[in-house]
Amino acid sequence: MTTYLVTGGAGFIGSNFIHYMFEKYGDSIRIINVDALTYAGNLENLKGVSGRANYSFVKADITDSDAINRIFDENDIDRVVHFAAESHVDRSIRNPGVFVQTNVLGTCVMLNAARSAWEKEDGSYKEGKKFLHVSTDEVYGSLSDPKDYFYETTPYDPHSPYSASKASSDLLVKAYMDTYGFPANITNCSNNYGPYQFPEKLIPLMINNALTGKKLPVYGDGKNVRDWLYVKDHCKGIDMVIEKGRPGETYNIGGHNEKQNIEIVNIIIDTLLEILPEGDERRKNVSKDLITYVEDRKGHDRRYAIAPDKIKKELSWEPETCFEDGIKLTIKWYLDNEEWFKNVTSGDYQKYYSKMYNV
Ligand code: NAD
Ligand code: DAU
Repeated sequence: MTTYLVTGGAGFIGSNFIHYMFEKYGDSIRIINVDALTYAGNLENLKGVSGRANYSFVKADITDSDAINRIFDENDIDRVVHFAAESHVDRSIRNPGVFVQTNVLGTCVMLNAARSAWEKEDGSYKEGKKFLHVSTDEVYGSLSDPKDYFYETTPYDPHSPYSASKASSDLLVKAYMDTYGFPANITNCSNNYGPYQFPEKLIPLMINNALTGKKLPVYGDGKNVRDWLYVKDHCKGIDMVIEKGRPGETYNIGGHNEKQNIEIVNIIIDTLLEILPEGDERRKNVSKDLITYVEDRKGHDRRYAIAPDKIKKELSWEPETCFEDGIKLTIKWYLDNEEWFKNVTSGDYQKYYSKMYNV
């Protein structure tokens, strides 16, 4: 039985990945989820799997090397899937320190623990071990020529403290591969959307605000471009890279779905009005009049766009969910899970929101 150590499995992509893996592999795998449960970690995301005999949860911080080493001592880990990170650009602009701590130092702790558990005396590694470092397209910086794309060979040029910390962690993983022959892959993915995403990020924030009649804060001129991928397609790509990716390689993951932010906001409003029945109380708040242009994000990258040619050619990965379907599935999920929204937006979220948006 293959044993996976998933870090950050209580967050958005990590929890989707755990669901994806159990749906695909059932009882033939074991997953240990290690998560510090920061504001972004939510065990409610894992309700459907928490009772499984082949799933366990460990509350630990990835910067705590004793706790992480203990997990490796007590379990024969075959795969590490490293999601745990501080992930929000706006928070990194306000408070960069914790991004360096978790994303850089935490990754170093994970690498050291896996290396010392997996390396044999002759410097080679035990059979079948793999470390998958989950990273972002933001490490490549911003594209100005509309014909340009991010390839695996594009030089790193991060601008925000978040992307700089992710770039640093990627370089650490590369250094372990080059120096110690450490068996790893890096994936750099574009913007994900789907169920369980914390409403500090564009899509769930706009859905939540529209449903509650709050302003829809669009940064700058709203024409910044992001390349959106349904989260399940990302999870599928990660699984394929773990199984078939050549050790030492980086794979970009993205579905060629570039959209300006203002387009996304308009699509959300149109879709809500299409889905919500006439008599539904929540429908009365939904309106394009809520769109409000606000001060731009500092150092706001203009355009991201992934070239996924390598993962398509080498591993036959293809995205399965087009944006039109994915956004409907996503909005329906949030409408059907009002309680989830209510729970994550109570307490500290309100303080964050007031400070961030001056309301
Ligand atoms: P998220 O913020 O939703 O979840 C992060 C998880 O990590 C949370 O459960 C949190 O509790 C946990 N965590 C944070 N600090 C920790 C620590 N010190 N120790 C242990 N656990 C800790 O993030 P996400 O959007 O799911 O992103 C997951 C990964 O994917 C990140 O590495 C991110 O850089 C990368 N990524 C995200 C996207 C995206 O669009 N969201 C795109 C590409 C890559
Ligand atoms: O590209 C991958 C990255 O995508 C991941 O590495 C990050 O973890 C993830 O958070 C995401 O980063 P972005 O900064 O692109 O995502 P965010 O949802 O914060 O913003 C998307 C765009 O929408 C961006 O151009 C800023 C804009 N925006 C965002 C918010 C929260 C607004 O206009 N208004 C808002 O209120």
